[in-house]
Amino acid sequence: MAGPSENPPLCERIGREKFEEVIESFYEKLFDDPVLGKYFRGISDLESHKQRFRAFWWIGLGGEDTRPPAIDMVGKHEGLGLGANEFNRWAGLFAETLHQALEAPLAEAWIRMAQGIIRRLRSIP
Ligand code: HEM
Repeated sequence: MAGPSENPPLCERIGREKFEEVIESFYEKLFDDPVLGKYFRGISDLESHKQRFRAFWWIGLGGEDTRPPAIDMVGKHEGLGLGANEFNRWAGLFAETLHQALEAPLAEAWIRMAQGIIRRLRSIP
């Protein structure tokens, strides 16, 4: 069986620097997007939101965080009226960003995780 050093978590394979770069370019795309831009431009404290978004993913990818924030995934997306169109766009921009920045196997592994989360978020009214 592969030990931890032979099969490191995605966060280590991606690396913190690349990770930060991915999140930054993803948010640039979200901001410029004709459909999704309004949701993200409307966030009152964007830095603190991005902080939580980064922590959410870093931990999900197997990373450590000494002071992980409380995350309310359902509550924060509830009532935004998000449907298939919005989620497909989000997923498309996410996949595009990851493929631009990472080797295909890393991009694909991370995209699969996001797709699982989207399935969950899509059941929120
Ligand atoms: C069309 C799709 C989406 C839109 C428009 C959207 C929009 C938002 C908004 C407006 C917030 C609240 C920001 C605030 O005021 O604090 C939020 C929070 C968040 N979103 Fe999304 N989101 C989308 C999809 C996703 C997906 C697919 C993921 C993960 C795979 C995700 C991860 C998060 C996280 C981690 C937070 C922080 C929750 C918290 O603060 O407790 N979002 N999103």
